[in-house]
Amino acid sequence: PLPLKLYGKRTNSAGLELGDRKELAALMSGIAKASTTVKAVPLIEGVKPSGKSQDVVSPVNGATVGTVVFATAEEAAKAVGVARKGFSSWSRVPVETRAKALEKAGDILEANRDRLLDLLSREAGKTIDDGIAEIREAVDFCRYYAAEARRQFGVDKIMPGPTGEDNKLRHRGRGAFVCISPWNFPLAIFLGQVTAALAAGNTVLAKPAEQTPLIAYAAIRVLYEAGVPKDAVLYVPGDGSVGAALTSHPEIAGVAFTGSTDTAWAINRTLAAKKGPIVPLIAETGGLNAMIVDATALSEQVADDVVMSAFRSAGQRCSALRILYLQEDIADNMLDMIEGAAKELTLGDPSLPSTDVGPIIDQAQRDMLTDHIAAMRKSQKVRFAGEAPKDGLFFAPHIVELNRAEALEREVFGPVLHVVRWKAKDLDKVLDQIASTGYGLTFGLHTRIEATVTKIIDRLDIGNVYVNRNTIGAVVGTQPFGGSGLSGTGPKAGGPAYLARFALEQVVSVNT
Ligand code: NAD
Ligand code: ALA
Repeated sequence: PLPLKLYGKRTNSAGLELGDRKELAALMSGIAKASTTVKAVPLIEGVKPSGKSQDVVSPVNGATVGTVVFATAEEAAKAVGVARKGFSSWSRVPVETRAKALEKAGDILEANRDRLLDLLSREAGKTIDDGIAEIREAVDFCRYYAAEARRQFGVDKIMPGPTGEDNKLRHRGRGAFVCISPWNFPLAIFLGQVTAALAAGNTVLAKPAEQTPLIAYAAIRVLYEAGVPKDAVLYVPGDGSVGAALTSHPEIAGVAFTGSTDTAWAINRTLAAKKGPIVPLIAETGGLNAMIVDATALSEQVADDVVMSAFRSAGQRCSALRILYLQEDIADNMLDMIEGAAKELTLGDPSLPSTDVGPIIDQAQRDMLTDHIAAMRKSQKVRFAGEAPKDGLFFAPHIVELNRAEALEREVFGPVLHVVRWKAKDLDKVLDQIASTGYGLTFGLHTRIEATVTKIIDRLDIGNVYVNRNTIGAVVGTQPFGGSGLSGTGPKAGGPAYLARFALEQVVSVNT
């Protein structure tokens, strides 16, 4: 092993003690006062939105949360022009000023926690726990990228060497950067991409997921309030066709995308088909995340961690556990415990503090899950099917025992845990199977044998490995997050290498 050294010094945004009655009561009254209808329109300087207004409905109960006007393809193209113009001034704004604006945005988000939490709950179905964690992550991104921008771009580096010249390495923004995000972290991932691009000196075309445009609109207004100019960040809501209009534009300088592997491929094709500059793509995509549990693991902890990893957030996290490999000797006992813990979960209205699992984001995703379980029933053993509330888009946790791991070929984005049994002599085969999926996002391991930990982490090209804990909830700056292979290009969000990919490196060599 290489020597270890502490990297950086920082604190994360404050949490809440939900077990404290006073804190909880204050939060609930804040949320109750917050409920307002949000009206989101494209924010593209000089362009009057011409699209139709449509309702944004809640996955919890179908109630209207607000309205949105999607940008048209023409407006998206115009937005690139505005962002290109804006780049000439934003790229000259000192790093310190950019960093301060992002820090201010973090403070405003924190001060508006209850309002944002209410919106996250109604628009995206986030539980109180998940919503608080998401707001904290968004705040952390603002502060972390501000700090990293100062550290990495705040000075020009004098390069050593024998050439007899003054050699200087500096960083600048690339231009108009397209940021496209998913619905499952509609605030944190949306703002994480946008703040990184801004911190590096780019202007940004921010396209949120079509399911969650309202919280993204609120986030953009926070950036404006914090002093980011309107021609430095443009809000371009819409579905995939608007994303395609942005990524196919000849004048964009880069794309940061988080979402499914299929969409990353589509964007890659769009970028490859364009003439002109070669546009960098940062893609963070899905996973077929596994956890291996051997016979030395602590069973109560495994049960807790499996339920948390597979069912929290209704399994709608890219990091969520999809395939659990249980050593045969302990499998029956472990499955009983996991099933028992899954039965204890409360599904329902995510705005109630007693709710553990909220709804599925939309009808299409719920249909996909229903179809998946129906298909599994034909060839595999559905061992457990929980109960879901009748009204609203809920889907209960399920546990499916697979007769072979290959029966699951793709990410199933929801609360479905697949289980495979393995024998001690077959650990290598299990590792080969996990590697052969081509995904490499998160991985969990429960064992008390140190040699097993070393062996396994060296064998798997997986971005985030969790030992003797759950596999979700990476902390910005502490657990930089992102995968490899079918799971993404890197660099890791919330890590020291992220900002550099948004920046242009320039070396100036002066013959003195
Ligand atoms: P998605 O790929 O359907 O959509 C993501 C975004 O891409 C949306 O904004 C959508 O409008 C846009 N889009 C769709 N087609 C496009 C096109 N042709 N060109 C440009 N943009 C287009 O994904 P989703 O359903 O919103 O999100 C769930 C997926 O995201 C899961 O696969 C999950 O694993 C992944 N995810 C990954 C991470 C990570 O960090 N690796 C984090 C969260 C979610
Ligand atoms: N960063 C999110 C997690 O770790 C996706 O769960």
